[in-house]
Amino acid sequence: MGGSGLCVRDLSVGYGPVRAVRGVSLEVPEGTVVAVLGGNGAGKSTLLRAVSGTLPFHGGAVTGGTVTLDGRRLDGLGPGRVVAAGVSQSPEGRRVFARMTVADNLRAGLLGARGGRPARAAALRRAHELFPVLAERGRQRAGLLSGGEQQMLAVARALMAAPKVLLLDEPSLGLAPLTARRIADTVREINEQGTSVLLVEQNAALALRLASRAYVLEVGEVTLSGPADELAASDEVRRRYLGVVDEDAAAAAPRPRGALPALSRWEG
Ligand SMILES: Nc1ncnc2c1ncn2[C@@H]1O[C@H](COP(=O)(O)OP(=O)(O)OP(=O)(O)O)[C@@H](O)[C@H]1O
Ligand SMILES: [Mg+2]
Repeated sequence: MGGSGLCVRDLSVGYGPVRAVRGVSLEVPEGTVVAVLGGNGAGKSTLLRAVSGTLPFHGGAVTGGTVTLDGRRLDGLGPGRVVAAGVSQSPEGRRVFARMTVADNLRAGLLGARGGRPARAAALRRAHELFPVLAERGRQRAGLLSGGEQQMLAVARALMAAPKVLLLDEPSLGLAPLTARRIADTVREINEQGTSVLLVEQNAALALRLASRAYVLEVGEVTLSGPADELAASDEVRRRYLGVVDEDAAAAAPRPRGALPALSRWEG
Protein backbone atom coordinates (compact mmCIF):
# COMPACT_ATOMS: atom_id res chain seq x y z
CA MET A 1 0.00 0.00 0.00
CA GLY A 2 1.06 3.56 -0.44
CA GLY A 3 3.33 3.26 -3.47
CA SER A 4 5.81 6.04 -4.16
CA GLY A 5 5.19 9.59 -3.06
CA LEU A 6 3.06 11.02 -0.32
CA CYS A 7 -0.15 9.20 0.41
CA VAL A 8 -2.92 10.32 2.77
CA ARG A 9 -5.56 7.66 3.45
CA ASP A 10 -8.89 8.24 5.11
CA LEU A 11 -7.41 10.88 7.41
CA SER A 12 -9.46 12.37 10.21
CA VAL A 13 -8.27 15.11 12.55
CA GLY A 14 -9.84 16.66 15.62
CA TYR A 15 -9.15 19.65 17.83
CA GLY A 16 -10.83 18.33 20.94
CA PRO A 17 -14.45 17.89 19.94
CA VAL A 18 -14.02 19.80 16.65
CA ARG A 19 -13.63 17.42 13.72
CA ALA A 20 -11.70 19.56 11.27
CA VAL A 21 -10.78 16.89 8.66
CA ARG A 22 -12.94 13.88 7.94
CA GLY A 23 -11.93 10.86 5.90
CA VAL A 24 -9.63 12.72 3.53
CA SER A 25 -7.58 10.73 1.01
CA LEU A 26 -5.12 12.23 -1.42
CA GLU A 27 -1.88 11.45 -3.19
CA VAL A 28 1.15 13.43 -4.21
CA PRO A 29 2.97 11.16 -6.66
CA GLU A 30 6.73 11.63 -6.79
CA GLY A 31 7.76 14.72 -8.75
CA THR A 32 4.32 16.32 -9.00
CA VAL A 33 2.62 19.50 -7.76
CA VAL A 34 -0.75 18.79 -6.19
CA ALA A 35 -3.08 21.56 -5.02
CA VAL A 36 -5.69 21.63 -2.28
CA LEU A 37 -8.30 24.34 -2.71
CA GLY A 38 -10.94 25.46 -0.26
CA GLY A 39 -12.36 28.43 1.56
CA ASN A 40 -11.71 29.64 5.10
CA GLY A 41 -11.99 26.90 7.68
CA ALA A 42 -12.16 24.07 5.12
CA GLY A 43 -9.37 22.19 6.88
CA LYS A 44 -6.47 22.92 4.53
CA SER A 45 -3.97 23.96 7.20
CA THR A 46 -5.14 21.13 9.44
CA LEU A 47 -4.37 18.65 6.66
CA LEU A 48 -0.83 20.00 6.27
CA ARG A 49 -0.27 20.02 10.03
CA ALA A 50 -1.33 16.38 10.17
CA VAL A 51 1.24 15.51 7.49
CA SER A 52 4.06 17.55 9.07
CA GLY A 53 3.43 16.24 12.58
CA THR A 54 2.80 19.72 13.96
CA LEU A 55 -0.82 19.18 15.05
CA PRO A 56 0.06 18.86 18.76
CA PHE A 57 1.36 22.47 18.71
CA HIS A 58 -2.18 23.51 17.79
CA GLY A 59 -4.02 21.25 20.20
CA GLY A 60 -5.03 18.82 17.49
CA ALA A 61 -4.61 15.10 16.90
CA VAL A 62 -5.04 12.55 14.13
CA THR A 63 -8.06 10.44 15.05
CA GLY A 64 -8.01 8.08 12.09
CA GLY A 65 -6.29 7.17 8.84
CA THR A 66 -2.68 7.09 7.73
CA VAL A 67 -0.01 9.23 6.11
CA THR A 68 2.81 7.51 4.25
CA LEU A 69 5.84 8.59 2.25
CA ASP A 70 7.09 5.94 -0.18
CA GLY A 71 5.12 3.42 1.81
CA ARG A 72 6.60 4.42 5.18
CA ARG A 73 4.24 5.63 7.91
CA LEU A 74 4.62 9.27 8.94
CA ASP A 75 1.57 9.65 11.15
CA GLY A 76 2.55 9.42 14.79
CA LEU A 77 6.04 10.83 14.15
CA GLY A 78 7.12 14.13 15.66
CA PRO A 79 7.88 17.08 13.37
CA GLY A 80 11.67 16.55 13.45
CA ARG A 81 11.32 12.94 12.34
CA VAL A 82 8.91 13.93 9.58
CA VAL A 83 11.53 16.38 8.32
CA ALA A 84 14.15 13.64 8.54
CA ALA A 85 11.85 11.37 6.55
CA GLY A 86 11.76 13.95 3.75
CA VAL A 87 8.76 16.24 4.28
CA SER A 88 9.10 19.94 5.18
CA GLN A 89 6.42 22.55 5.69
CA SER A 90 6.25 26.27 5.08
CA PRO A 91 3.49 27.22 7.50
CA GLU A 92 0.53 29.52 7.04
CA GLY A 93 1.28 33.17 7.72
CA ARG A 94 5.00 32.74 6.97
CA ARG A 95 6.08 32.54 10.64
CA VAL A 96 9.66 33.62 10.15
CA PHE A 97 11.65 34.28 13.31
CA ALA A 98 11.44 38.08 13.18
CA ARG A 99 14.26 38.85 15.62
CA MET A 100 16.67 36.38 14.09
CA THR A 101 18.75 37.16 11.01
CA VAL A 102 17.76 35.85 7.63
CA ALA A 103 20.78 33.53 7.69
CA ASP A 104 19.79 32.12 11.10
CA ASN A 105 16.23 31.58 9.90
CA LEU A 106 17.62 29.49 7.06
CA ARG A 107 19.82 27.55 9.47
CA ALA A 108 16.76 26.81 11.58
CA GLY A 109 15.38 24.94 8.59
CA LEU A 110 18.18 22.41 9.01
CA LEU A 111 16.76 21.10 12.30
CA GLY A 112 15.94 17.47 11.74
CA ALA A 113 17.68 17.47 8.35
CA ARG A 114 19.82 14.57 7.28
CA GLY A 115 23.19 14.97 5.62
CA GLY A 116 26.46 16.50 6.70
CA ARG A 117 28.20 19.73 6.01
CA PRO A 118 28.40 19.45 2.20
CA ALA A 119 24.64 18.74 1.98
CA ARG A 120 23.96 21.76 4.17
CA ALA A 121 26.17 24.02 2.10
CA ALA A 122 24.43 22.79 -1.04
CA ALA A 123 21.02 23.52 0.50
CA LEU A 124 22.08 27.06 1.34
CA ARG A 125 23.42 27.59 -2.18
CA ARG A 126 20.14 26.37 -3.63
CA ALA A 127 18.11 28.70 -1.37
CA HIS A 128 20.28 31.65 -2.38
CA GLU A 129 20.02 30.79 -6.06
CA LEU A 130 16.24 30.53 -5.89
CA PHE A 131 15.90 33.68 -3.79
CA PRO A 132 18.95 35.94 -4.33
CA VAL A 133 17.46 38.60 -2.07
CA LEU A 134 17.99 36.25 0.89
CA ALA A 135 21.72 36.17 0.18
CA GLU A 136 21.84 39.96 0.00
CA ARG A 137 19.91 40.32 3.26
CA GLY A 138 21.52 37.45 5.14
CA ARG A 139 22.62 39.53 8.12
CA GLN A 140 19.46 41.55 8.42
CA ARG A 141 16.74 40.70 10.91
CA ALA A 142 13.97 38.75 9.20
CA GLY A 143 11.31 41.05 10.66
CA LEU A 144 12.63 43.86 8.47
CA LEU A 145 11.92 42.01 5.24
CA SER A 146 8.82 42.86 3.20
CA GLY A 147 5.86 40.48 3.27
CA GLY A 148 6.89 38.93 -0.03
CA GLU A 149 10.48 38.52 1.09
CA GLN A 150 9.34 36.91 4.34
CA GLN A 151 7.30 34.45 2.29
CA MET A 152 10.38 33.67 0.22
CA LEU A 153 12.31 33.12 3.45
CA ALA A 154 9.63 30.77 4.78
CA VAL A 155 9.77 28.68 1.60
CA ALA A 156 13.57 28.75 1.52
CA ARG A 157 13.74 27.70 5.17
CA ALA A 158 11.57 24.68 4.44
CA LEU A 159 13.85 23.78 1.53
CA MET A 160 16.98 23.75 3.66
CA ALA A 161 16.30 20.17 4.75
CA ALA A 162 16.27 19.14 1.06
CA PRO A 163 12.81 17.58 1.34
CA LYS A 164 11.34 15.10 -1.12
CA VAL A 165 7.99 16.74 -0.48
CA LEU A 166 7.46 20.44 0.25
CA LEU A 167 4.22 21.46 1.99
CA LEU A 168 3.20 25.04 1.23
CA ASP A 169 0.36 26.68 3.17
CA GLU A 170 -1.03 29.63 1.18
CA PRO A 171 2.25 31.08 -0.09
CA SER A 172 0.39 33.81 -2.01
CA LEU A 173 -1.66 35.04 0.96
CA GLY A 174 -1.61 38.80 1.33
CA LEU A 175 0.87 39.35 -1.50
CA ALA A 176 0.48 41.68 -4.45
CA PRO A 177 -0.30 39.82 -7.70
CA LEU A 178 3.18 40.35 -9.11
CA THR A 179 4.88 39.02 -5.97
CA ALA A 180 2.48 36.08 -5.85
CA ARG A 181 3.41 35.27 -9.44
CA ARG A 182 7.12 35.36 -8.61
CA ILE A 183 6.57 32.93 -5.76
CA ALA A 184 4.55 30.72 -8.12
CA ASP A 185 7.36 30.76 -10.70
CA THR A 186 9.81 29.72 -8.01
CA VAL A 187 7.54 26.91 -6.83
CA ARG A 188 7.55 25.62 -10.39
CA GLU A 189 11.34 25.82 -10.48
CA ILE A 190 11.61 23.98 -7.16
CA ASN A 191 9.40 21.25 -8.59
CA GLU A 192 11.45 21.06 -11.78
CA GLN A 193 14.49 20.44 -9.60
CA GLY A 194 12.78 17.26 -8.38
CA THR A 195 10.88 18.26 -5.23
CA SER A 196 7.21 17.26 -5.02
CA VAL A 197 4.87 19.97 -3.76
CA LEU A 198 1.60 19.84 -1.85
CA LEU A 199 0.22 23.34 -2.28
CA VAL A 200 -2.66 24.68 -0.21
CA GLU A 201 -4.21 27.82 -1.67
CA GLN A 202 -7.27 30.00 -1.63
CA ASN A 203 -5.93 31.54 -4.83
CA ALA A 204 -7.39 28.82 -7.04
CA ALA A 205 -6.26 30.34 -10.33
CA LEU A 206 -2.63 30.36 -9.23
CA ALA A 207 -2.81 26.88 -7.72
CA LEU A 208 -4.50 25.30 -10.74
CA ARG A 209 -1.85 26.75 -13.05
CA LEU A 210 0.93 25.14 -11.03
CA ALA A 211 -0.61 21.80 -10.16
CA SER A 212 -1.21 18.70 -12.25
CA ARG A 213 -3.95 17.47 -9.91
CA ALA A 214 -6.14 19.23 -7.39
CA TYR A 215 -8.54 18.45 -4.58
CA VAL A 216 -11.32 20.68 -3.30
CA LEU A 217 -11.85 20.57 0.46
CA GLU A 218 -15.13 21.73 1.98
CA VAL A 219 -15.89 21.57 5.70
CA GLY A 220 -13.20 18.96 6.23
CA GLU A 221 -14.08 16.67 3.33
CA VAL A 222 -12.87 16.24 -0.25
CA THR A 223 -15.80 17.14 -2.47
CA LEU A 224 -14.06 17.26 -5.85
CA SER A 225 -10.77 16.05 -7.27
CA GLY A 226 -9.16 15.50 -10.62
CA PRO A 227 -6.63 16.80 -13.14
CA ALA A 228 -6.07 20.52 -12.54
CA ASP A 229 -7.10 21.52 -16.07
CA GLU A 230 -10.39 19.63 -15.73
CA LEU A 231 -11.14 21.25 -12.38
CA ALA A 232 -10.25 24.67 -13.80
CA ALA A 233 -12.82 24.08 -16.52
CA SER A 234 -15.59 22.78 -14.25
CA ASP A 235 -18.55 25.06 -13.62
CA GLU A 236 -18.48 24.38 -9.91
CA VAL A 237 -14.85 25.39 -9.49
CA ARG A 238 -15.18 28.35 -11.83
CA ARG A 239 -18.16 29.69 -9.95
CA ARG A 240 -17.03 28.99 -6.41
CA TYR A 241 -13.26 29.33 -6.52
CA LEU A 242 -12.41 31.30 -9.63
CA GLY A 243 -15.07 33.92 -9.09
CA VAL A 244 -16.46 33.43 -12.59
CA VAL A 245 -20.20 34.09 -12.77
CA ASP A 246 -22.32 31.67 -14.77
CA GLU A 247 -21.99 33.12 -18.26
CA ASP A 248 -25.16 31.56 -19.67
CA ALA A 249 -27.26 32.72 -16.74
CA ALA A 250 -25.58 36.09 -16.88
CA ALA A 251 -26.26 36.39 -20.60
CA ALA A 252 -29.91 35.35 -20.16
CA ALA A 253 -30.51 37.74 -17.30
CA PRO A 254 -31.35 41.33 -18.09
CA ARG A 255 -28.16 43.27 -17.68
CA PRO A 256 -28.22 46.56 -15.89
CA ARG A 257 -26.78 49.35 -17.99
CA GLY A 258 -23.03 49.56 -17.69
CA ALA A 259 -22.71 46.13 -16.03
CA LEU A 260 -19.33 44.50 -16.32
CA PRO A 261 -18.83 41.27 -18.25
CA ALA A 262 -17.95 38.07 -16.39
CA LEU A 263 -14.80 38.64 -14.43
CA SER A 264 -12.10 36.38 -13.12
CA ARG A 265 -11.46 37.57 -9.60
CA TRP A 266 -7.94 36.32 -9.30
CA GLU A 267 -5.12 37.77 -11.24
CA GLY A 268 -2.31 36.07 -9.26
N1 LIG B 1 -5.91 25.26 16.88
C1 LIG B 1 -7.22 25.03 16.66
N2 LIG B 1 -8.06 24.72 17.67
C2 LIG B 1 -9.37 24.47 17.47
N3 LIG B 1 -9.96 24.50 16.24
C3 LIG B 1 -9.17 24.78 15.19
C4 LIG B 1 -7.78 25.07 15.34
N4 LIG B 1 -7.27 25.34 14.13
C5 LIG B 1 -8.28 25.21 13.25
N5 LIG B 1 -9.43 24.88 13.90
C6 LIG B 1 -10.74 24.64 13.27
O1 LIG B 1 -10.59 23.59 12.32
C7 LIG B 1 -11.29 23.89 11.12
C8 LIG B 1 -10.33 23.91 9.95
O2 LIG B 1 -9.41 24.96 10.12
P1 LIG B 1 -8.14 25.17 9.19
O3 LIG B 1 -7.31 26.23 9.82
O4 LIG B 1 -7.51 23.87 8.92
O5 LIG B 1 -8.83 25.70 7.84
P2 LIG B 1 -8.17 26.33 6.55
O6 LIG B 1 -8.80 25.64 5.38
O7 LIG B 1 -6.70 26.31 6.65
O8 LIG B 1 -8.72 27.83 6.60
P3 LIG B 1 -8.02 29.22 6.13
O9 LIG B 1 -8.19 29.29 4.66
O10 LIG B 1 -8.82 30.26 6.84
O11 LIG B 1 -6.60 29.18 6.56
C9 LIG B 1 -11.99 25.21 11.36
O12 LIG B 1 -13.29 24.94 11.76
C10 LIG B 1 -11.18 25.84 12.48
O13 LIG B 1 -11.99 26.69 13.26
MG1 LIG C 1 -5.27 27.73 6.66
